[in-house]
Amino acid sequence: MDLLHAPRLQPFGPRSQREALLERLRPEFYGLDTEYELADGRRARRIYLDSAASNLRLKVADAIVHRALAHYANTHSQLHFGARIMTALYHQAHRIVLDFVGADDAYTAVFHGNGVTGCINRMARVLAHKRPERDVVITTLMEHHANDLPHRKHAGKVVHVPLEHDPDGEAGRVDLEALAEAIEAHADRLNYVAITCASNVTGIINPVHEIARMAHAAGALVLVDAAQSAAHLPLSVVAEDPAENLDVLVMSGHKIYAPGSPGVIVARKDLFLGLEPEEIGGGVVTFVDARRYTITDRLPDREETGTPNIPGALALAATLYLMGRIGMDVIEADERQLTQYALDRFEAIPGLHLYGSHRLEVADRIGVITFNIEGLPHGFVTAVLNDYFGIAVRNECFCAQPFVRQLLGIADEHGVAPDACMTRVHDATEKPGMVRVSFGLYNTRADVDAAAEALRHIAGHAEDYAPHYVPVPDGSGDFRHVSFRFRPHDAFDLEREVDAWLRDNLV
Ligand code: ALA
Repeated sequence: MDLLHAPRLQPFGPRSQREALLERLRPEFYGLDTEYELADGRRARRIYLDSAASNLRLKVADAIVHRALAHYANTHSQLHFGARIMTALYHQAHRIVLDFVGADDAYTAVFHGNGVTGCINRMARVLAHKRPERDVVITTLMEHHANDLPHRKHAGKVVHVPLEHDPDGEAGRVDLEALAEAIEAHADRLNYVAITCASNVTGIINPVHEIARMAHAAGALVLVDAAQSAAHLPLSVVAEDPAENLDVLVMSGHKIYAPGSPGVIVARKDLFLGLEPEEIGGGVVTFVDARRYTITDRLPDREETGTPNIPGALALAATLYLMGRIGMDVIEADERQLTQYALDRFEAIPGLHLYGSHRLEVADRIGVITFNIEGLPHGFVTAVLNDYFGIAVRNECFCAQPFVRQLLGIADEHGVAPDACMTRVHDATEKPGMVRVSFGLYNTRADVDAAAEALRHIAGHAEDYAPHYVPVPDGSGDFRHVSFRFRPHDAFDLEREVDAWLRDNLV
């Protein structure tokens, strides 16, 4: 997408070659050949359509990290060969992250926690301390809780900007006029605008550089949640016009084909300096005695106390480097075609209602599609897809309750609902929610066809499945099969695996 600018990693070769490499990469993920026994006794290969929650792990990055582990050592050790190799690789991982998002020397990359939630909590505290005179944060009504609640906790006031609607009345991206009004109304106290690059509910993309320009004109910063978009779109923190540079960008390793990897904060260095780091301990100090300590000014060291998740950081960096070399332009174009294909197929299913604008020409989106089937609880549709079709999707509110309630029409235009997310909709057991299909690099038209055919079948034959299901009595809106029992530990059990190794190695 032009507006988001190209990252700094150089593509590996001509586009046609990179497209061919993408095809080679498609089957190279763990979990694509996994089979389960279904409720009707068939065994079927699972179809994973839940990448917005976490995507599957790339084998090639794993293989590279396994080779690196031959040298594993703590990066806090200094002089032995392994320590020097690991320290160099860990630095390289930071540089790859910065290159992937087009960052220049004004930025640092900090590996933090498990995903974006920890990163945004951290930056909400940092930015509140950095600019205490500016105690207002503007965010939107399309955010994941991770890009809403930390600001509520640390800012004096949080303003939620509404969304624009397409000619069909469907919610699109953030309403830029409403955003401009909110910025103007709070200009003297506005610390930053916190905005998702792409929604985890509708997949719809926001013009983050344009928003950065609007925030900067008021002396505010911009924090971009790239959890959903990083693996799907080219995005650069540095824009052609410096007024559009992004101040903070956060991403999650587990949503970039590297589950087990940390989250990452890419931020302007000056935002950290002058403040004592949030966490202190080993690795960030230059001098300590029983009464005093001094903190290093070196970034990212001063923001990464303790022993880091080195294998996780290397896996993420290897994955980002591979994606950057194939080219996010190629990856984005590939997903766009699959998304358009899926929207067309799903739209044709009688009774299926898609949420969010699905006119890609007015509200561009990544491969995240949410819907409900008329008269059928989201938990029922999701359970039947899994139990009878082997199709893995997510339901409920996707950690974005205000947005989901808005899309369902049970929150007002300010995102305020009459009750909690436990509101009764049709009966006591149905918590409001939706079904979500989301794509990764490994998904194909065959996966979309399988999902579309399954959904069409469920929509037309719900009465055949209904007697087999009861609501889970926890108010979640989920359903479970009355007789088919799937036992997770039959599929995989850690103690059994270890005991098998012990038996096999008895001498
Ligand atoms: N918050 C993640 C999602 O959108 C897990 O599903």
